[in-house]
Amino acid sequence: MDDSPLQVLTVATAPYPDQRHGSGGLRRMVNVFQTRKHYLHNFIQSIFSSIDLRDRQGSTVMVGGDGRFFNQTAIRVIVQMAAANGVGRLVIGQHGIMSTPAISCMIRKCKAIGGIILTASHDPGGPNGGLGIKFNTANGGPASEAVANKIHQISRTIEEFAICPGLQVDLMTLGRQTFDLENKFKPFTVEIVDSVESYANLLRNIFDFAALKELLSGESHISVRLDAMHGAAGPYVRRILCGELGCPANSAVNCVPLEDFGGQRPDPNLTYAADLADSMRDGQFDFGAAFGGDGDRHMVLGKHGLYVSPSDSVAVIADNIFCIPYFQHTGVRGFARSMPTSAALDSFLETIFHFIRCRVAKATKIELYETPPGWNFFGSLMDAGKLSLCGEESFGAGGDHIRETDGLWAVLAWLSIMATRRQSVQDILKDHWLKYGRNYFTRYDYESIDIDTACEMMEDLEIIITDKSFVKQRFAVEDKLYQVEKADSFEYTDPVNSSLTRNQGLRIIFSDGSRIIYRLSGTRINGATVQIYIDSYEKERLSEDTQVMLAPLATIALKISKLHHRTGRSGPSLIT
Ligand code: G6P
Repeated sequence: MDDSPLQVLTVATAPYPDQRHGSGGLRRMVNVFQTRKHYLHNFIQSIFSSIDLRDRQGSTVMVGGDGRFFNQTAIRVIVQMAAANGVGRLVIGQHGIMSTPAISCMIRKCKAIGGIILTASHDPGGPNGGLGIKFNTANGGPASEAVANKIHQISRTIEEFAICPGLQVDLMTLGRQTFDLENKFKPFTVEIVDSVESYANLLRNIFDFAALKELLSGESHISVRLDAMHGAAGPYVRRILCGELGCPANSAVNCVPLEDFGGQRPDPNLTYAADLADSMRDGQFDFGAAFGGDGDRHMVLGKHGLYVSPSDSVAVIADNIFCIPYFQHTGVRGFARSMPTSAALDSFLETIFHFIRCRVAKATKIELYETPPGWNFFGSLMDAGKLSLCGEESFGAGGDHIRETDGLWAVLAWLSIMATRRQSVQDILKDHWLKYGRNYFTRYDYESIDIDTACEMMEDLEIIITDKSFVKQRFAVEDKLYQVEKADSFEYTDPVNSSLTRNQGLRIIFSDGSRIIYRLSGTRINGATVQIYIDSYEKERLSEDTQVMLAPLATIALKISKLHHRTGRSGPSLIT
């Protein structure tokens, strides 16, 4: 065997203009990475070059992903490039698989300078699907806008990358591998780890596992159905919910990660997790949950498939936050939601504050932050001790235990509420609406729209809604009349570092508080996805059909944008 030090090479390359690290990292069709010369290498080098050499040298970096097609190939390249870029130690999930929340947990635990996550989350997998590369920084959360911009700038002028082509890593065997590199004093090490235990340990310190075990496997236990959608959540669901908390093994399905997620999109909503909803319809399960491809997103269903909207989910968890022992210790620092997420959290907080103020003259209001989509904005608030709990309409919720959306955490939060209140999902949800009113919410996705058409539509729409004459305009549909109160292009100033983020969606807010929001998705792999979000508050009519309730606003949204006319579409590709 040749044990001479491995060669480090510098390879010339040419830049690509489109390597922007968005809220979900860089996402492209797999064949872009396969066919464009050094497309992967350029982006990885741009990530490493964005880290100061002094911080990079000898540092620890985490690597893992959702198990999709091409991830292992990409990880082998990342290992070769990390070694050549002075990283001292890589910690990698066995088989290259690690859920996004577990990576966030491990970055913080191992004091890594960051992590590279190979996931395109909810986008399809397989040879004809997508691939995503996301860089998370030392706090465990997605790169800030400033870091993302730096990576993009570097990628636009890159001329060379460093690589150790002879370095062959074994991703299958747990344990440490060391490699000697030429011109290097210290060996480069790779640790292949099973992250489930570290992540489970984190959850054990947040929740009351004994109470959860009683709920899930005690004498009068509830029955559950858990669908990991063949993503990275599978091993965590099996070991934590089945192995430790006692859910029967057959209650967890699709727990083996597959490169193409079994041919379906690993997006936990009623369309793509339809099997879960179907299996719950006859009432044999009290609680159901599906998890996204990288374990960050989740959907909660009650008996007979009762759907809990993600916006309601975070409001209910907020109202019951002290059912989670972790928050009994930390207290509540603040709440947050992304701007397009329904205002259910606001409705709850307004009622609660009003209620407290009636009793305590100088009641301190708990701060509510409204951020652009993307967990990096929440992470900044959490790092500054301003935020405890947050959520997004895109099936994400989490606490400040890590800096990512956390599907399993959200499910354990719901189960903790059920265990404490001894109530069903349905009763918990109905009680919530009775107390605080209900925010009906829907999102229409128009996928694979020509990028220029989508951008032109957004530009024209911005001109229309920001014209002075737009405010006070009235729109009538059937017996409903809405008057525009405010309209703008949403921008956000981070209260911690004062950085300004512009163009985060076009908002129309009506005088009754109803909202229409238009936004281009930042995470799609193919063309543009135009998203319309509709939110309307009701105090009395609590059990209506969401689509029926929101139909007048949907008509108005389409009329103002002329979306169907401009795109040639007759309806959305997806409704959530
Ligand atoms: C990912 C991120 C979320 C973000 C979402 C936005 O899931 O983890 O934090 O909200 O992407 O997706 P979109 O497609 O709406 O830009």
